[in-house]
Amino acid sequence: AVQRTFSIIKPDATKRNLTGAIAAKFEESGLRIVASKRIQMTLAQAETFYGVHSERPFFGELCEFMISEPIVVQVLEGEDAIAKNREVMGATNPADAAAGTIRKEFALSIGENSVHGSDAPETAAEEIAFFFSGLELVG
Ligand code: CMP
Repeated sequence: AVQRTFSIIKPDATKRNLTGAIAAKFEESGLRIVASKRIQMTLAQAETFYGVHSERPFFGELCEFMISEPIVVQVLEGEDAIAKNREVMGATNPADAAAGTIRKEFALSIGENSVHGSDAPETAAEEIAFFFSGLELVG
């Protein structure tokens, strides 16, 4: 089925001018970018967005990293968009990521791993709504 998923191009990637190269990977895979904006999160926003990880040892580091530079938040649409995006991103840890994936080609470490993508339809809907109004989604 056609789905929408939420994506972040993270600070390590925007800082290295990889926004276009990463967007090209999405488009080449058949995903359509139906919304896109460059923002810089506040600490409160980052802590809310990553709330599910608040008990993890890397939570503080994760939130500080995510506010350290601008990010690009996007909504990607396509057939099985959630799974397709996860395939294009590759494994969370770039050391484990398959050849040709975004994280294999661009990520620096498990923390500075260039992209975030929703893991399920429910989280995709929540994450899209956190950053975008319905008017900003142009299918
Ligand atoms: P993301 O998909 O954005 O969701 C949670 C993030 O936590 C994950 O990507 C990783 O970048 C980050 N993360 C996971 N494990 C670690 C770790 N051990 N140290 C730092 N960051 C981590």
